[in-house]
Amino acid sequence: MRKTETIASLKSAKGERRLTMITAYDALFASLFAEEVEMLLVGDSLNMSFLGEPDTLSATLDQMIYHTRAVCNGAPASFVVCDMPFGTTNTKEEALANAVEVFRRTRADAVKIEGGASRAELVRHLVDNAIAVMGHVGLMPQSVRSEGGYRVQGRDEESFARVIADAKAIEEAGAFSLVIEGVTPELGRAVTEAVSIPVIGIGAGAETDGQVLVWSDMLGLFEAFKPKFVKRYMEGAALVKEAVRTYAQEVRSGAFPAEEHCYR
Ligand code: KIV
Repeated sequence: MRKTETIASLKSAKGERRLTMITAYDALFASLFAEEVEMLLVGDSLNMSFLGEPDTLSATLDQMIYHTRAVCNGAPASFVVCDMPFGTTNTKEEALANAVEVFRRTRADAVKIEGGASRAELVRHLVDNAIAVMGHVGLMPQSVRSEGGYRVQGRDEESFARVIADAKAIEEAGAFSLVIEGVTPELGRAVTEAVSIPVIGIGAGAETDGQVLVWSDMLGLFEAFKPKFVKRYMEGAALVKEAVRTYAQEVRSGAFPAEEHCYR
C-alpha cells in the first residue's frame, strides 16, 4: 500500500507546512489517528502509559516490535516510526542489528534514536544501511536515571549550545528529522533554524516545524500526571469512567441488555 508520506515529502515540508505526529500503540487507535496526522510514533512511552511502568527504561525490543506491528496493521498507509528502546543501540553494530530486526518484523518506515553528537556515527551507520532515522535531542527520557530526573534543557548557555550541536551532528549523520523534547521555546526555535531537516517539538515551544504528543496524554486518559506541555483535547478518563459506570449500573438494574440486544 502506498504511504501518504515519505522521507522526501516530510523533508520538503520544512518551512512549507507544519507536521503533526501522535504516538500510537495499537491497531485500533492507529486506525483512528491515521488520517489526521502525518506520522505515527510507536514511542517507548508505551512502557509507562500501556504497561504502567514508572519510566521507559524497561521497554524491550520485542515489546516495541509487537506494538509497531499492531500500529502498521491498523494504519497501513501511515508513516510509522518505531522508537528504539533503552539499551538496544549501545554500539553501531548492535543498533543496526536491532533496527534491521524492527524493519524485518514490522512495516515501520523509520526508527527513532535518543541521543546527540556522541551517537552521530551510529546514526550514520544505520542510514548507510538503508534504515531511516529520526533523532531525539534535548530532554531524553531514556537518560532519566543517569540524569537524576527529567531536566528541561536550554536554561543555561552550556545546555543551549550543546543541544544545538547535538541537532547539527544528528542532521549531518543523515537523520531525516528530529524530535526535540523538554527545552525552552528559545532553544526550540534556535534548533529549528540551525538544521534543514524538520524538527518536531514536544515541550519545545511553538516555533518548531511540527509537534508530537503522547495520545493518552492529549486525550486525557493518562491521569497519573500532566506535564506542563500537554494540552488535553478531551477529558478521556472521565468519559470512559462514566460509560463503564453506566454499563455496570444497567447490568445491575436489568436495563441492559434490552430487547434490541437480543437474538430472535
Ligand atoms: O516515547 C515517546 O512517546 C516519545 C515522544 C515523547 C516523543 O519519544
